[in-house]
Amino acid sequence: MFGAQSAAFTFLENRARDIFGRYGYEELRTPILEHTELFCRSIGEQTDVVQKEMYTFPDRKDRSLTMRPEATAGVVRAYIESGRAKEGGVNKLFTCGPMFRYERPQKGRMRQFHQLNCECFGAAEPALDAEVISMLMHFLRDIGITDVKLLINSLGCEKCRPAYRTALYDYLRSLDPSALCEDCRRRMEINPLRVLDCKVQTCIDHTINAPRILDHNCPECAAHFAGVRDFLAMAEVDYVINHKLVRGLDYYCRTTFEVVSNAVGSQDSIAGGGRYDGLIRQLGGPDSPAFGFACGMERLALLLKENVEKRLDFFIVAMDGDKNAEVGKSAFRIADQLRKNGLGGEIAQPGGFKGKMRQAGKSGARFCLIIGPDELAAGIVSVKNMDSGEQFSKSSASTADLVNAIS
Ligand code: HAM
Repeated sequence: MFGAQSAAFTFLENRARDIFGRYGYEELRTPILEHTELFCRSIGEQTDVVQKEMYTFPDRKDRSLTMRPEATAGVVRAYIESGRAKEGGVNKLFTCGPMFRYERPQKGRMRQFHQLNCECFGAAEPALDAEVISMLMHFLRDIGITDVKLLINSLGCEKCRPAYRTALYDYLRSLDPSALCEDCRRRMEINPLRVLDCKVQTCIDHTINAPRILDHNCPECAAHFAGVRDFLAMAEVDYVINHKLVRGLDYYCRTTFEVVSNAVGSQDSIAGGGRYDGLIRQLGGPDSPAFGFACGMERLALLLKENVEKRLDFFIVAMDGDKNAEVGKSAFRIADQLRKNGLGGEIAQPGGFKGKMRQAGKSGARFCLIIGPDELAAGIVSVKNMDSGEQFSKSSASTADLVNAIS
């Protein structure tokens, strides 16, 4: 990634650090390689990620390693191993970086992509779910992404989901076998909820009237979901309930959500997450509630309206500077002073005047400062505003004046 693309990623990371930091998130960095088993146990054996998309290989001692397809499993592992899980309390962790999934590449879908990822451990209340979702919407608003839809659902818990699975299974069994794709006919037997997540059109069409999980939530899960909705309303967060939002990973319970946009082509999900209260215990830690989400940075970058690449403040063209040592020295001194006063800029590479002016244009700098033998003799710098074309001169004796003129 060069230029504008790299700048977009830096911008996204910095805004995320700032905004998530305001909600108490501290940054965590986890390794790219983890033991394969970690992902199988957390994401779920029957998910597309584990079945088809992981980059898995044996290391030199024949241990199976996998390049992380997502951050959550590694964050939970680190949280347990660090001893923080045992200490208890609330831990809010932000992490970002590359993830790897062997998917068919297309616009907004890469095999190496990047996520901004937040996990909150130790808080079970509906207010926390709403706080995290509202924080994500705050972040998206802050970076200028407003044309999006928030979808929410509740997957119930270990107590109430089995009855729903049975109801869904019975419904799927009642369909003509040709209604579902081959994968779904297999999925249906092992984890029927996965069928609701299938992207094949016939499967989408035939599950529109499937039983709804919210109708099967136990009273506790229903109360939790009602609480989340109340707090979302309080935070003035708009949402749509999507009965088929089961997410592509197995660890979720209760609240799940996704943010979608129709401006990134068929890859419409820009962020997703939810509650996963059972995972820490399942991975060998204490019984601790958890909630989190991840945003896809490539997809966010596609939606950024402005070019966030940082422009140079100045570009110095030293006329005759290649031959006239005094002009060259003056250009060097001015650049040095301006940089030490907080501005960013460059001096043109050797060449003729026209070539140097072309360099100035290409650099994207806001101002071009021209110094030649005449300017040197008069103790001035000629300044050209590269956006408006306006030209003026400033004394080269006062750095402060020059800084003011081009800040
Ligand atoms: P996920 O829905 O699998 O959730 O991924 C989250 C986001 O990562 C997606 O909404 C999408 O923007 C982006 N993404 C996924 N795959 C690709 C790809 N191949 N190319 C580009 N972007 C992609 C998770 O990963 C969960 N770990 C989220 C979470 C955190 N749940 C709880 N905590």
